Amino acid sequence: MITLSDCSCWFKDKKKVVKAMKHMTFSVKEGEVVGILGENGAGKTTLLRAVATLLEPTHGTVTVAGFDTVKEATEVKKRIGVLFGGETGLYDRLTARENLEYFGKLYGLDQHEIKARIEDLAKRFGMRQYMDRKVKGFSRGMKQKVAIARTLIHDPDIILFDEPTTGLDITSSNIFRDFIHQLKQQNKTILFSSHIMEEVSQLCDSVMMIHQGELVYKGTLPELYAQEQSEDLNYIFMSKLARGIS
Ligand SMILES: Nc1ncnc2c1ncn2[C@@H]1O[C@H](COP(=O)(O)OP(=O)(O)OP(=O)(O)O)[C@@H](O)[C@H]1O
Ligand SMILES: [Mg+2]
Repeated sequence: MITLSDCSCWFKDKKKVVKAMKHMTFSVKEGEVVGILGENGAGKTTLLRAVATLLEPTHGTVTVAGFDTVKEATEVKKRIGVLFGGETGLYDRLTARENLEYFGKLYGLDQHEIKARIEDLAKRFGMRQYMDRKVKGFSRGMKQKVAIARTLIHDPDIILFDEPTTGLDITSSNIFRDFIHQLKQQNKTILFSSHIMEEVSQLCDSVMMIHQGELVYKGTLPELYAQEQSEDLNYIFMSKLARGIS
């Protein structure tokens, strides 16, 4: 469970204050897959960073599995897997396997667990044939898959992805989407941002719409479709923006 209570994040940019997140209050239930939608600069990454303990809220609190992201960050970190767009967090000079082993150790897994986990992830992501090659020479999609595997090495219950399929080809995006389905069956809680409406409508139970730092909608997709009398998420999003999102 993820809970935000009146959470705001401000940045001081020279003399101006940027209110990237304003008074957000919501919960994400265990096993819920939630898509975050919003224009560029809406505050999606800021929200994910706050949940991931990477950013301290200026006001309000964020709790993950009952732990406060500021006061109990270590407990939160153990339970989350995080992947931010553009940052794979991998070491180029190590092989895919060595990278995963390294992160497994960081999370305190023993050798046996690490081996089993790597085997499972390599199989699921179709990465077996390049596990022992250095990441340096990998294509973007190959790197992204290893990065996703790294995020999941400690089998976290809560997974946060920021635009996970940006830059992936159709095959890799589909692998990722299948993987989300598998994670969902394991009752994992997933919160991810995306600009791809089709992806959100296929994968998510609920959506959040963020506009200029404010949470303007959170609800299940069936609720949203009924409310808007349409099942076209792209159309719904655009028409909400045109109406001033209400
Ligand atoms: N470290 C920072 N310093 C100053 N301003 C910041 C910082 N991080 C984010 N912001 C500002 O906060 C606002 C929200 O940014 P954020 O990155 O969360 O948007 P986003 O919804 O993820 O956008 P995109 O779709 O482009 O990724 C923007 O106005 C951005 O410039
Ligand atoms: Mg972003």
